[in-house]
Amino acid sequence: MQVTDFRCLPIAELEFDPRFTLISGPNASGKTTLLEAVYILGRGRSFRTRRLEHLIRRGADRFVVFGEVDSPGRRMTMGVEGSVAGTRAKIDGAFATSLAELTLVLPVQIIDPEVHKLVEEGPSRRRRYLDWGVFHVEPDFVAQWQRYHQVLKQRNAALKARQPRALVAIWDEELVSVGESLTAARSRYVANLADEVRRLSMTLLGQELEIQYRCGWARGLSLAQALKQSWVTDSERGLTHVGPQRAELTLLMGGAPVKDRISRGQQKLLAAALLIAQIRLFPPDFPVRPSLLLDDPAAELDNDSLASLINEVSGRAVQLIVTTLQQDFSVFGSPGRRFGVLAGGVRPL
Ligand SMILES: Nc1ncnc2c1ncn2[C@@H]1O[C@H](COP(=O)(O)OP(=O)(O)OP(=O)(O)O)[C@@H](O)[C@H]1O
Ligand SMILES: [Mg+2]
Repeated sequence: MQVTDFRCLPIAELEFDPRFTLISGPNASGKTTLLEAVYILGRGRSFRTRRLEHLIRRGADRFVVFGEVDSPGRRMTMGVEGSVAGTRAKIDGAFATSLAELTLVLPVQIIDPEVHKLVEEGPSRRRRYLDWGVFHVEPDFVAQWQRYHQVLKQRNAALKARQPRALVAIWDEELVSVGESLTAARSRYVANLADEVRRLSMTLLGQELEIQYRCGWARGLSLAQALKQSWVTDSERGLTHVGPQRAELTLLMGGAPVKDRISRGQQKLLAAALLIAQIRLFPPDFPVRPSLLLDDPAAELDNDSLASLINEVSGRAVQLIVTTLQQDFSVFGSPGRRFGVLAGGVRPL
């Protein structure tokens, strides 16, 4: 990975170990920033901010992150550039039409101090979480997902422009067919995920977490019927109120929603259980193995929890990139490569 003018890093170049890389350095040296750079390559967005200008090094006018992804029989390049004009991504030299395509080249997942938001916040994070998993199990899903959001955008624009029903309805047939097939793909995935999540939450927390997929419209209706019923609301508010964009992954313990009933530490562990479940379900025949970024895990989890987590990911086909304050951090075994970060400078140790 080559990083230019990204937050505190004027320039940095790193080659990660295929299995385990350890990045150490004092507070504010740029450790999380390096993980953020890897993440943006695989996601086209940051996990810390939605404001692009925060990512550009103060005084510079754009950042560039360039990556080379090697796996047996495949070498791909990718780059993400951010400036006042927005974000642009390239894969093998050609512009990516959607940021979702990046995830097929570099599947990346992070467990960081904000991980509890996956459990605590609204449904959009959990939808993104779910879709990341489905993208790799069913690669056709990426194109369908893109198409669905294009059609939805057109339909919403027509609603907003107060166009007559017949003109809005032009979009309905495709919205319904793609929307139903997205829903089916997500449901298939959740069915497999649920067992893994139940087992992992038991291991990490001693309690079972149950996940359920709610499709984004009233149970018992088809999407076509739900759209019909929603017409008055949709036309009044200028927005489509039913469909997979409104789906929710509900998290239950003992039959009740978890959100307000568990501690922050438990939220972190549950979120980690959800993420590791996805890593475990990652298709073994996918051309590249996923990267799991762990931002200062020793500060987030107690020793027992850390030990269980390590146990669940070690031996998996996953590329671990871990940050830590102490150079001698060794709970994951010995890293294949180590880097030290000091005031925005990165060097191999
Ligand atoms: N756009 C920017 N331009 C320049 N510097 C920035 C920018 N955004 C953030 N920084 C600085 O980057 C530094 C490193 O931040 P980072 O979060 O990567 O540190 P860290 O090593 O993870 O620290 P910690 O151990 O406290 O988590 C911070 O001092 C921050 O002020
Ligand atoms: Mg940090």
